[in-house]
Amino acid sequence: MAGYIALVHKDAGTSYGVSFPEVPGCVSAGDTFEEAVCNAAEALTGHLALMRADGDEIPAPRSFDELRRDREFAHDAADAPAPTLDSMEQRVKPCTSCHGNEGRATREGYFPRIAGKPPGYLFNQLVNFRDGRRHFPMMTYIAQFQTDDYLREIAAYFGAQHVPYPAPEHTYAMSEDELELFSARRVEQRQGDG
Ligand code: HEC
Repeated sequence: MAGYIALVHKDAGTSYGVSFPEVPGCVSAGDTFEEAVCNAAEALTGHLALMRADGDEIPAPRSFDELRRDREFAHDAADAPAPTLDSMEQRVKPCTSCHGNEGRATREGYFPRIAGKPPGYLFNQLVNFRDGRRHFPMMTYIAQFQTDDYLREIAAYFGAQHVPYPAPEHTYAMSEDELELFSARRVEQRQGDG
């Protein structure tokens, strides 16, 4: 299964709108391209869950080539701007909205950390998303039109980010009394065992 293709629309003076040609009725928006794409991922997941709950038939995602042959899609896509991301900073901006600053991930744990992982590993993952061997709609969307060279550069960028891991949220420090009690119990247990 490939991911669903999203169309990002923008008219002068409006926010970004996202629609899914194969999932009519599922639309989303955002003030920036990244925000629109992130919101769209959530909207799509929610929409498909509702359809499933209602017992509706879930449309099969089509590849970009299949879609391109569809007249209606060609018409809808005519006004979708191709994101112009040329500097590395612009290219990785959408990534950090999910993967955290420099790809270091967030505490929520849902979006995997990509900072400092081997560039070859990262590159392979991006190619797998692009070529339909690994599935996550927004990652497929992001990688789908990119060349190997482009993805290799992005992989190298994140591979080179050696940034600290977020500190654990709850650290628990034992007081001296607690520590003593704890060790005393362990001694008791051990004696009990023997
Ligand atoms: C809408 C949120 C979102 C955006 C934007 C996004 N990603 Fe992801 N990415 C994810 C999620 C979620 C996964 C895990 C998917 C899965 O379950 O396989 C992932 C997985 C990955 C992986 C595989 C990580 C691993 O450890 O296996 C790489 C590499 C990656 N993303 C790179 C990028 C890059 C580079 C960009 C920007 C060009 C980007 N992502 C943008 C959500 C996002």
